[in-house]
Amino acid sequence: MQEFTGRTAVVTGGASGIGLATVERLAAAGMNIVIGDIEERVLDEQVARLTGEGVDVLGVVTDVADQEAVTALAAAANERFGDVHVLFNNAGVGGGGPMLEAGLDVWEWTLGVNLYGVVHGIRAFGSAMVAHGDPCAIVNTASMAGLLPTPMLGAYTVSKYAVVAMSETLSLETQGTNLSVHVLCPGFVSTNIADSDRNMPEHMAEPLADRPDADLMRAAMRDLVAGGIPPADVAERIFEALQSGRFTILPHPQFGPQIAARGERLVAGDLPVSWDI
Ligand SMILES: NC(=O)c1ccc[n+]([C@@H]2O[C@H](COP(=O)([O-])OP(=O)(O)OC[C@H]3O[C@@H](n4cnc5c(N)ncnc54)[C@H](O)[C@@H]3O)[C@@H](O)[C@H]2O)c1
Repeated sequence: MQEFTGRTAVVTGGASGIGLATVERLAAAGMNIVIGDIEERVLDEQVARLTGEGVDVLGVVTDVADQEAVTALAAAANERFGDVHVLFNNAGVGGGGPMLEAGLDVWEWTLGVNLYGVVHGIRAFGSAMVAHGDPCAIVNTASMAGLLPTPMLGAYTVSKYAVVAMSETLSLETQGTNLSVHVLCPGFVSTNIADSDRNMPEHMAEPLADRPDADLMRAAMRDLVAGGIPPADVAERIFEALQSGRFTILPHPQFGPQIAARGERLVAGDLPVSWDI
């Protein structure tokens, strides 16, 4: 994509973190912005702030785990701005704990947001984006946990591997069209992801409640995330990939050799190794 001014971007999970930084980058490039986010108060605050800064922005309270809500997001974007040129399927939640301890509700919540959120996005927007014929792009947020196994974050890791698989397959299926597909796989980024349970459905039990070391685990995750790179750096890598057509967006290139080594271990039949932070 080379044309951004006056075109429209839809960003899920755009009220915080990587999504918000990307909203700011795309708005700086002259795009109209639609933010779909579940957290209404923060969404309203950010939409008011961005509007005050002269951005043409629409906020739509959206639970990406719900296909009807994402379909309504697409309808609202079309009604306000017409065709969509960038869809950033970014909303996500982290946490969950070890696989053998995670309750079914943790699996359903994590896969519902991180995996089905992307499924719902491509179903609600994809065909119309190809049909309008202008150069356009879908960026899906996976993670380094979508390329390397990540113990203690089982459901999260499964959801992110699946997003990588979806992105690879969709990119092949849409080759030769006006739509380019990209997958974002960051390591740690300094956002609010360690407090994802703020958006947990009310009926859900706290995922780590039964573990005596729950507070230690939460503190360790907060430290890792707080020590991550700034979200604005990730947004810049995304913008570069939109311009260059690069498929994988890897804001932490230091993990490249570990990703290559995973492939070699798979071929050799060796046991997997987690990422070395
Ligand atoms: N921060 C990291 O270290 C890191 C690393 C790799 C990947 N990621 C991924 O980046 C993406 C963005 O996360 P972030 O780090 O900016 O965290 P964040 O918590 O700051 O932002 C996530 C946003 O998603 C929204 N959201 C949560 N559930 C939603 C739902 N059901 N429907 C709609 N919106 C919902 C939240 O309200 C929030 O605005 C996620 O997919 C996450 O898995 C983050």
